[in-house]
Amino acid sequence: MKILVTGGAGFIGSNLARKLIDRGDEVVIIDNFNDYYNPQLKRDRIKNILKDCKFEIYEDDIRNYDRLAEIFKKEKFNKVVHLAAMVGVRNSLLEALLYEEVNVKGTMNLMELSVKNKIENFVYASSSSVYGNNKKVPFSEMDSVDSPISPYAATKKTTELMANVYSHNYKLNTTGLRYFTVYGPWGRPDMALFKFTKNIIEDKPIDVYNYGKMSRNFTYVDDIVSGTITVLDANLKCEVMNIGGDKEETLLRFIEVIEDKIGKKAKNNLMPIQPGDVPSTVADISKLRKLGWVPTTQIEEGIENFIDWYKKYYQSK
Ligand SMILES: NC(=O)c1ccc[n+]([C@@H]2O[C@H](COP(=O)([O-])OP(=O)(O)OC[C@H]3O[C@@H](n4cnc5c(N)ncnc54)[C@H](O)[C@@H]3O)[C@@H](O)[C@H]2O)c1
Repeated sequence: MKILVTGGAGFIGSNLARKLIDRGDEVVIIDNFNDYYNPQLKRDRIKNILKDCKFEIYEDDIRNYDRLAEIFKKEKFNKVVHLAAMVGVRNSLLEALLYEEVNVKGTMNLMELSVKNKIENFVYASSSSVYGNNKKVPFSEMDSVDSPISPYAATKKTTELMANVYSHNYKLNTTGLRYFTVYGPWGRPDMALFKFTKNIIEDKPIDVYNYGKMSRNFTYVDDIVSGTITVLDANLKCEVMNIGGDKEETLLRFIEVIEDKIGKKAKNNLMPIQPGDVPSTVADISKLRKLGWVPTTQIEEGIENFIDWYKKYYQSK
């Protein structure tokens, strides 16, 4: 299979590309290496995670329809995994128009071209943030997601609606995965695990939002990759599915494990909840489980892997 991975220099995309190549798929990446966080980390992911791999990479922007059309024509993909996006809930409140352009227009460009090029399956990243302040836990795909509280969440919900339109009218197979707080080696510097690890190592305080009264289904990147491949292979008509770890963890427990693995106490700076943030995101993962997927990594192991990577990567810098 020849597979387009958009956002393939990103945290999840680079790990996914590696797995696909290892099992014999041909991978083509499109990524614009934007500077939302240090693009050097994206270049280093390509250099390290995809070391000794054969793949094609285009440094292009998914907002550019004509350029995408050229790439689709030349490469003749079988399937698409669309992960490129402006990420970050808090930042989206500052740059809502940019989030709309990339996440909505960019995604529609790709769906449009997927129809025109008879793509067999279009898998795309949605997010647990679509649930907004949903009070009922765990979050189920049957719950209403009509009240997002950040531009980022609203763009993700919009892509789900558009996928529905493309599936029903143009028979494009689509599956949207609502990722729940992904973590692991080569992770994003704007996410909690990265910031906490950095500050604890550097003896700086860490900002603990909502006074630590947050809970999450933290999901290890390898589990995200295996779930994404499960739906990529399944060629479902039109689905949206949660993908998250199988254990609800509080933020304070998460910090305890980081302290334990680093061997140092954090200086907690307890803060109110930030605009756009959701206090609890806990996933009902029964729908994806029915396809045979199971998450296998608990936070003790996953955080240790992250800290080992972090120390090695930043020591070498
Ligand atoms: N990491 C998480 O916890 C999480 C949770 C929910 C959803 N998601 C979704 O998963 C996907 C991957 O997230 P990630 O954590 O790997 O983020 P990431 O920022 O590391 O990866 C996204 C990649 O997309 C690229 N990109 C952004 N705009 C682009 C554009 N206009 N054209 C081409 N490339 C562009 C970026 O350069 C980046 O390499 C995103 O769609 C994100 O919204 C992630």
